[in-house]
Amino acid sequence: MFNYLLILHLLGAAIWTGGHLILALVILPKVLSSRNLDALLQFEQQFEKIGMPALAIQIITGLWMAHNILPNVSAWFAFDNDISILIGIKLILLLMTAAVAMHARFWVIPRLSADNLNGFAVNIVLVTLLSVTFVVVGTLFRTGF
Ligand code: HEM
Repeated sequence: MFNYLLILHLLGAAIWTGGHLILALVILPKVLSSRNLDALLQFEQQFEKIGMPALAIQIITGLWMAHNILPNVSAWFAFDNDISILIGIKLILLLMTAAVAMHARFWVIPRLSADNLNGFAVNIVLVTLLSVTFVVVGTLFRTGF
């Protein structure tokens, strides 16, 4: 069972982190130099359909695996051994991702225009860095610090 959860978790990571890397490294530089928002909005619209389910799968499989490794949920927040520190860091990364995404959705995107792209660019870079950190922290479960 754990192996199936891990497969889903890795596929979700490929979509979530890979999609954000393409957005940050390929689409965003083009949009910033052309100041043409269309490519950005088009990518966002398409990516949302697969990116949000991928994130949901990350959360479900991640919590499930965490529960398998440490069944006592209060131990997740003890920060007293490698595993509880890593689970805690993943949950903090999740809260930070949610905060940046909400800020983008309710504050930045409604005010988005060609002259006002920098705030959105910062949001994209932040979510991308968070998504890469998720992967790095994920690998530490096997190797330890
Ligand atoms: C977008 C969000 C996330 C990404 C990109 C991500 C990515 C990864 C990656 C690449 C691994 C390494 C798997 C391996 O060792 O082969 C991993 C492991 C793990 N992740 Fe996540 N993760 C995310 C969210 C979460 C969340 C929210 C949790 C919940 C606590 C979580 C819990 C875990 C656990 C417990 C493992 C260890 C699995 C094992 O034993 O190998 N992850 N994650």
